[in-house]
Amino acid sequence: MTKSMEDPNTISEQKARQALENLNELPSMPAVVGQALNIIDDPNANINRLAEILSTDISITTQLLKLVNSAYYGFPSQITTINKAMALLGLNKVRSLILGLAVKPMMLSEHGKKLWHHSLRCAVGSKYLAKNLEFGDPEEAFITGLLHDIGKTVLQVQNINAYNEVQKLAAIGADILDAERTFYGFTHTEVGKILTEKWNLPLIIGITVEHHHNPLASEESMSAGIVYVANCITREQLKYPVFDQDIIDSLDFEIPDPEAMREKVFELSQPVIDAFS
Ligand SMILES: [Fe+2]
Ligand SMILES: [Fe+2]
Repeated sequence: MTKSMEDPNTISEQKARQALENLNELPSMPAVVGQALNIIDDPNANINRLAEILSTDISITTQLLKLVNSAYYGFPSQITTINKAMALLGLNKVRSLILGLAVKPMMLSEHGKKLWHHSLRCAVGSKYLAKNLEFGDPEEAFITGLLHDIGKTVLQVQNINAYNEVQKLAAIGADILDAERTFYGFTHTEVGKILTEKWNLPLIIGITVEHHHNPLASEESMSAGIVYVANCITREQLKYPVFDQDIIDSLDFEIPDPEAMREKVFELSQPVIDAFS
């Protein structure tokens, strides 16, 4: 096959992989987080072993306890050990919190808090929708919403000027993925999926991250559809959620009052943003 006949998707995926390899500051998961997630995903998860691993990272332990003791959870008494935190929250929630702590420094770059707050809101919105639609595991929806734009951190590190140009084009209605392809040769969705693979996260998370702008193209269309809607609802620059009605109609969704849902999700997100701050 000649080069010009290669599938454009394959070409941009190759470019995304190349970009990750060329970065000096490759976003990486703290080792402890990777080990902790592996233990949690093991059906015979051993809580004591998990507590032991987490305790070796003072920063993660301190932040985790701070989160658990925040007003968001409202536990009546102070929780002082990781074991107690896990017993109260359950492993699934601990998993979301650990991942949140791990990606926070990547998303809270010198470019501000915008991406971080949007990601937390999209996480809360995805969980809210998954619960209401009774689809899948709401905690997994939270994680996927949290990570949906993680690829943007790569675009920012690679070329902040190009990133700002893309944001400007998107703000005046350009397709963000087309704009990214023009400036970078690949998209935040492609590079985001590759990052989730590098971090050994479950495949469904990567597939959802890849298709959160075009859920109908995904083999996990419901899961991608949930993040699609949550993403549309939590775009800070738009006061009113804008969806592609064809996408909503094709999915098994009903969104009777998008503005009310937006308000609800913003309200539910504030304590989460405060807890993680
Ligand atoms: Fe996105
Ligand atoms: Fe987004």
